[in-house]
Amino acid sequence: MSRHGIQLKTPAQIAMMRRAGLVVAKGLAEMGAAAVAGATLAEIDAVGRDVLAVHGATSNFLGYGAEWGYPPYPGVACISVNEVVVHGIPDQRRLVAGDIVSIDFGAVVDGWHGDAARTFMVGEVDDESRRLSEVTRNALWDGIAAVASAKRVGDISHAIQRSVETSGLQVGIVREYTGHGIGTEMHQEPDVPNSGRPHRGARIVPGVCLAIEPILTLGSPENVELDDEWTVVTCDGSRAAHWENSVAVLADGIFVLTEPDGGAAELAARGVRIASLD
Ligand code: MF3
Ligand code: CO
Repeated sequence: MSRHGIQLKTPAQIAMMRRAGLVVAKGLAEMGAAAVAGATLAEIDAVGRDVLAVHGATSNFLGYGAEWGYPPYPGVACISVNEVVVHGIPDQRRLVAGDIVSIDFGAVVDGWHGDAARTFMVGEVDDESRRLSEVTRNALWDGIAAVASAKRVGDISHAIQRSVETSGLQVGIVREYTGHGIGTEMHQEPDVPNSGRPHRGARIVPGVCLAIEPILTLGSPENVELDDEWTVVTCDGSRAAHWENSVAVLADGIFVLTEPDGGAAELAARGVRIASLD
């Protein structure tokens, strides 16, 4: 079923998306544990490949972009260190203590997609970088909590923007990359911008599934793509953080598909009940 180009999922289909979401959560946890000083980005990507293989899942990242004329994406995860905003390629770069590393990972199970990202600290990290990641994570959860009462996409975008602006940290919101619908493809309608006005945009109704993904920088949010046509870095060299989850809207509430607890803890802290997924 679809509505204005938005694919609406049945509860049974959302239960299938949960299976992909759990693989994504597992992969991120294992890759995060592997993100230690001395590890190469390629080694971390290999951990993600193993998790996909063990669960009989496939990658929605590997080979991505070829159909639009980009070089096919060479990894199963985007691994973005420090001033890399998104789409860092898992190469032979070695992590060092003090780095922050954003890992964006996806999985497909029986045709249904999951997509999520977390920013990890490598050893002792300076306070400002830690705060950047915390503010980004909090903006993600405030955005997710807003899905429960949102009537339109703009209500979610506005909640993310407000969360960032009231954080007390001077940060930039990256505008070029947005959240998105997710389902039988990784990227579907609608876009979910990380700032915007309430009461605008597509309607939020049961069956809508969204990947929400704020990306913040410690300096200017201005960014540029490198010659490899993937790696995106800040123009001023400031650090970036990226947190993402895939979320489903059901008749009795929302469910965070890419969190082991379905979002129960963070949503309870925000007074939002989670849906039952049978
Ligand atoms: N998962 C990213 C997003 O959050 C996109 C990954 S691009 C890819 O939308 F090429 F790596 F797949
Ligand atoms: Co995404």
